[in-house]
Amino acid sequence: MSPRGLILGIETSCDETAAAVVERGARTLSSVVASQISTHARYGGVVPELASREHLRAMVPVVRAALAEAGISLGDLDAIAVTSGPGLAGALLVGITYAKALAFAQGLPLIAVNHLEGHIHAVLLNEREQSPEEKLEQTSLALVVSGGHTHLYLARPIDGDWHYRLVGRTVDDAAGEAYDKVAKLLGLGYPGGPWIDALAQYGDPQAVPFSFAQIKRKVHLAGRAARTKAASTAPIAQLDPRFLFSFSGIKTAVLRYVDLHGLRGTSRPNSATWESERLPRTREEAVALCPQPTLDLIAGFQRAVVGDLMKKTFAAAESYGARRLLISGGVAANRELRARFTAEAGRRGLSAAFPTLPLSTDNAAMIAAAAWPRLQAGKFAPGSLTADPSLALGV
Ligand code: KG4
Ligand code: ZN
Repeated sequence: MSPRGLILGIETSCDETAAAVVERGARTLSSVVASQISTHARYGGVVPELASREHLRAMVPVVRAALAEAGISLGDLDAIAVTSGPGLAGALLVGITYAKALAFAQGLPLIAVNHLEGHIHAVLLNEREQSPEEKLEQTSLALVVSGGHTHLYLARPIDGDWHYRLVGRTVDDAAGEAYDKVAKLLGLGYPGGPWIDALAQYGDPQAVPFSFAQIKRKVHLAGRAARTKAASTAPIAQLDPRFLFSFSGIKTAVLRYVDLHGLRGTSRPNSATWESERLPRTREEAVALCPQPTLDLIAGFQRAVVGDLMKKTFAAAESYGARRLLISGGVAANRELRARFTAEAGRRGLSAAFPTLPLSTDNAAMIAAAAWPRLQAGKFAPGSLTADPSLALGV
């Protein structure tokens, strides 16, 4: 291995084609993300076939841009890291096939990275960049909260590598999915999280209080996990019900509230005529389109979701004696979430760390950073590596 420890990361698990060069898991030399949002926006969600096609188109230019931005050539690399799951099968395969071919042609080791581990390493990468001298590896509680996941892990550094134990998760929708569905219902754009984030400040969260019922053990024993988008081998029945999330109920509650208060149609086109041309383009346009009761509803929804994420995350941190929280994934970009988690962590004498905003949503720098301990340990992917759409993290 060259003394530089340069890893090219490749990420294509969903709707972003990303490549990045990271030095020794601690310094981002480049991070390029080609978003497909405009392709999927008119459908109000990611269309898997279109995602694969767009990845195929973007893969080579994105890798070239990442190398150019880093000021290096392929010959300077020490390894190639790629997301092997979880995610969309066809989308994952584009990145994996390309990474394999590149690694073979360059005679470089290939490292497979779990997308969820990548999100956790986005926080660790930022921490190492900000405090290169400090020893930051300590047992932490990680909340990965995105469009596909709402998972809690106990993350422990052992012999230079990280080990993960799943301690909580959603039994149905992910928090980001709830954001996206509620935004779609209200006639806002895709993805919905950033819209709700921007509009919540104009509403009164007390005006529409939503509550999360405690998930009963019998509910999750009944096997509801089979319906989840991110269903995997994770043993929900063995998890402490205090650390289980459920976001499908609040989506229905919002729908009922919209119907009951006649909000439908005031700020949204009818869902049957969902068209991107009729969506607001700016925050000002959205605020002007949304009547006050809709803004109150948005504020109440966000207040409840963030409150539920906090309640269970802090309970798990206390239960496992974790002093540090690592909060990542697209929803971790949310301003109310960051402010409230930070304040509560301060009150409890814990630390709460988030990635920078560009590293909160999908990117490849987090994949290259997660691969660094594995490059040092010589843990490489076999030539038979393939996509695993429901790859689980940890035990
Ligand atoms: O991590 P990510 O880019 O992709 C997945 O792995 O899913 O997360 C995307 C999700 C979407 O559901 C999006 O609506 C949500 O993250 N999101 C947000 C914000 N920015 C993105 N949710 C709430 N507030 C935000 N500011
Ligand atoms: Zn993600």
